[in-house]
Amino acid sequence: MFNFESFDTKVDTEVIGRNFIYSEEVESTNSFLLNKSNKFNSEGTILLAEKQSKGRGRKERVWYSAKGQNLTFSILLTSKKYFGKKFNLLNFATSLSVAFALENLFQLKTELKWPNDVLVNGKKICGILLESTSQGNKIERVVIGIGLNVNQALFQGNFNLEPTSVKLELGESVDREKLLAELLNTFEEILQKMESKPDEIMKDWKDRCNLIGEKISVTEEGNTKYGIFEDLDEEGFLLLKTKNKIEKIHFGDVSAAQ
Ligand code: BTN
Repeated sequence: MFNFESFDTKVDTEVIGRNFIYSEEVESTNSFLLNKSNKFNSEGTILLAEKQSKGRGRKERVWYSAKGQNLTFSILLTSKKYFGKKFNLLNFATSLSVAFALENLFQLKTELKWPNDVLVNGKKICGILLESTSQGNKIERVVIGIGLNVNQALFQGNFNLEPTSVKLELGESVDREKLLAELLNTFEEILQKMESKPDEIMKDWKDRCNLIGEKISVTEEGNTKYGIFEDLDEEGFLLLKTKNKIEKIHFGDVSAAQ
């Protein structure tokens, strides 16, 4: 069971995680925090669940995570300052925070995959699902869902990308409380940089993205495009260089192409 006291002594954020909800089981931490009628509205609220009965991934995929072994949680953001042109940067800020936490605590070498997967040794260790609700054309609340595989050693099923966990990479179990605290401390720092130094976030992210400059395929709704991963634009969209043009990609699964 997650030990809140142990986590609380290690987290030193001002906003993120100061309102902390713990649940043995929910359908999906993202769905719960997105729903305004659940009455959790304060900036930086975290909902951590030991088990999700309907955990969701990107593109309506199911997110499987063994009970009590990993970190499955969501962060609520309500401050309008993140919801403008820089909205997409939240994907990079989040995946980068996970990468920094894994590097700093366990010296794991991470790789980032557009838009927001975190990989270790070519395998997926963390998935991120960013969702929002709007009133008219104004974003009202944003929920960042994070599924970080920590102490799970066995993964069964069919996966788009082979999963791994911190335990599988290190050969030993680790302290989930310490990892969550490090991740949130880092996330809050990076969030503050979103306004003052967004270029630094993009640079740190790109430094960990091995596919930039490489031949890739991007698949979206059964349609696959091939080209060179030229760069990211300032809003975080992928620029794909095809024969005679540069195409802006908003969504899709990216893989290395032969
Ligand atoms: C993906 O890689 O497709 C994204 C996976 C996101 C999973 C997390 S677990 C916590 C939060 N609640 C959900 O239902 N999904 C996200």
